[in-house]
Amino acid sequence: MAVSVARFLFLFALLCISASVSFSLPFIVLHGIGDQCTNGGISEFTQLLSDWSGSKGYCIEIGHGSWDSWVMPLTDQANLVCEQVKEMKELSSGYNMVGLSQGNVIGRAVIEFCDMGPPVKNFISLGGPHAGTASVPLCGKGIICVIVDALIKSEIYSDYVQEHLAPSGYLKIPTQIDEYLKGCRFLPNLNNEKAEQRNSTYKERFSSLQNLVLIMFENDVVLIPKETAWFGFYPDGSFNNVLSAQETTLYQEDWIGLRTLDEAGKVKFVSVKGGHLRISRSDMKTYMVPYLKAKKKSSISSSISQLISSASDTVKEALGLNHDIVLLSNE
Ligand SMILES: *[C@@H]1O[C@H](CO)[C@@H](O)[C@H](O)[C@H]1NC(C)=O
Repeated sequence: MAVSVARFLFLFALLCISASVSFSLPFIVLHGIGDQCTNGGISEFTQLLSDWSGSKGYCIEIGHGSWDSWVMPLTDQANLVCEQVKEMKELSSGYNMVGLSQGNVIGRAVIEFCDMGPPVKNFISLGGPHAGTASVPLCGKGIICVIVDALIKSEIYSDYVQEHLAPSGYLKIPTQIDEYLKGCRFLPNLNNEKAEQRNSTYKERFSSLQNLVLIMFENDVVLIPKETAWFGFYPDGSFNNVLSAQETTLYQEDWIGLRTLDEAGKVKFVSVKGGHLRISRSDMKTYMVPYLKAKKKSSISSSISQLISSASDTVKEALGLNHDIVLLSNE
């Protein structure tokens, strides 16, 4: 009798220990243009991902939030994130990254440019202008938009606009490729597009990701073309026939390691219903959460938690709770 009680206690203790040694990698969220971490949409989004994955999530703010997301050059924005991630002790053994729209090119710049930064494992990209966009995001109303409109009407690849309008850093007009390569200060570097200046460190760092999840929105009208979320874009010189990622020179000559990642099966090309950044909760669970989830060290505890989570999913599915849209403010 005493022996079996002791054995029971031992097993119980083992179960408790194994449940508590699950290894969880934190993640950061980089918001889109016009948004900021204190907004309800983005904080709810971060919280939901954190709740569902069991991993801690941090929305990283850059300068003065919404304002700086419009006016601070992207290289500077990426440098600020680089400094922050290096200072956060929580991230020191590596982290996952979630990018929204413009936040994706900032995130990729952190991966490629940030010297001595902690390693990024999984990168989940929602509606990112990875290959550029042929139009500036709609601004809306307010003083910032008056300034933005004036800037857009002037020379987009001029030094002045490049220094004062963040999206000019990934604005790629396919009929102005020479001007773009010469004047655009951000994307040509990020994508290793300039033959004379390709930096193999960028490729090395980007291709060391464990997983790259590229989520494209089927009805995206903010990104032109929407396939840029998958690294697809117009051919140089024309607005016709969007090239798939695999048809671009960036991929074929493997300028940044996208091909290396893809051939290793590490790139997930995901297409979801909805407009720009309008992701449903069920799509978040299907395409994002698995890459953010804590890795369980014990098979006992993981099978128990899987059981619990699938049971609760079934209940929510039955109640119709799984299909509401998370509305993120702005882009
Ligand atoms: C390439 O980029 C890395 C990281 O930013 C930098 O340290 C290095 O100096 C660059 N190399 C060249 C040749 O520009």
